Amino acid sequence: MQNTILLDKLKGKPTNRPPVWFMRQAGRILPNYQKLKEKYAFHEMMSDPDLASEVTLMPIYDLGVDAAILFSDILVVPVALGMKMSFTAKGPVFESPLAGAAEPSKALEPDPSKLEYIYQNIEAIIKHRPDNTPLIGFCGAPLTTLCYMVQGTGKNPNFPDVVKYLYRNKSDARKMIDAIADMSVTYAQNQIKHGVEVFQLFDTHAGLIPVDLYMELFWPAIEKISKAVRETGAPFIYFPKGLGTGIKYVTPDIADYVSIDWQMPIEHARELVPQGVGLQGNIDPRLLYASKDEIAKALEKFIPFYRQNPDLILNLGHGFLPDVPYENARFVVEWVKQAWWK
Ligand code: CP3
Repeated sequence: MQNTILLDKLKGKPTNRPPVWFMRQAGRILPNYQKLKEKYAFHEMMSDPDLASEVTLMPIYDLGVDAAILFSDILVVPVALGMKMSFTAKGPVFESPLAGAAEPSKALEPDPSKLEYIYQNIEAIIKHRPDNTPLIGFCGAPLTTLCYMVQGTGKNPNFPDVVKYLYRNKSDARKMIDAIADMSVTYAQNQIKHGVEVFQLFDTHAGLIPVDLYMELFWPAIEKISKAVRETGAPFIYFPKGLGTGIKYVTPDIADYVSIDWQMPIEHARELVPQGVGLQGNIDPRLLYASKDEIAKALEKFIPFYRQNPDLILNLGHGFLPDVPYENARFVVEWVKQAWWK
């Protein structure tokens, strides 16, 4: 058996329904992951090819999704740039956040070999995956990555030190963004070399600053990462959460698909995003707290939309929340597979 529905859709081939997968599907809500977590810490699972492979493939078996996403984290890039970070029960914590540095870019010590264990994980996943189900690789976009490097934790979602830094020290910020982008390029290309077939760039905090400033400071880096991925032939999905009307800049030479957040009505996104770029999304992650009847009712709206716009991949408008019922996540996948899309 082969599962090619996601790759077919990304390549513009006809499929009989939209493919479905979820951001943050590897871990979090899966009971089998919770069991593993009793025995192993996150970093232990991430650095062991057998465990990383088991968790990556778990959602294929337990949820029935059409793709796996690598079990890793966006914060491996700051570590490869020389920063010390640990995953605690309350989330990631950096030992020396750059907010305290006079010239933050000078504190970096790039070492791409720190990412090599991840390529071993990818090879293990490719060896064990069922039905050649495609593997999605990823990294964080420079703004989201910078948020954690400067602020040190995700505790304050406004990342005030980051915004201050961007306005106060633009020239150093540009150096920093370049360094993150260069490491991301190496990392993305190596992921693909070792077997990843689709690449998603996560910019969870794209909405932190005005669109104009985002375009001025971060767009050249987005272009660079996108170009590096697409030169390999792998499709590129871009998730700029909160970018609002800025999604109109995502032209076909930037991305194959753009992942739409839950704030933006999908019809409005379609009007903004240039033709030739497909949409992924954008189920509200909180819908999964509702009853199955309510969930089905909310999902119905995607059917007429899909009939007009078949370049659609179903996903959430942000990652799973940790406490949503696992049964409801399974229900969404079953619903997508059984609905009449034609
Ligand atoms: O999508 C997937 O399931 C693949 C793996 C993945 C993880 N993190 C695993 C993880 C992906 C794609 C990410 C991306 C990520 N990491 C983002 C961007 C997407 C988003 O959700 O906004 C961000 C901002 C991070 C940073 C990060 N890592 C935070 C804030 C935390 C703590 C809170 C949380 O999300 O659980 C992490 C830790 C982390 N990354 C865990 C997992 C499975 C939790 C570890 C655990 O189980 O204790």
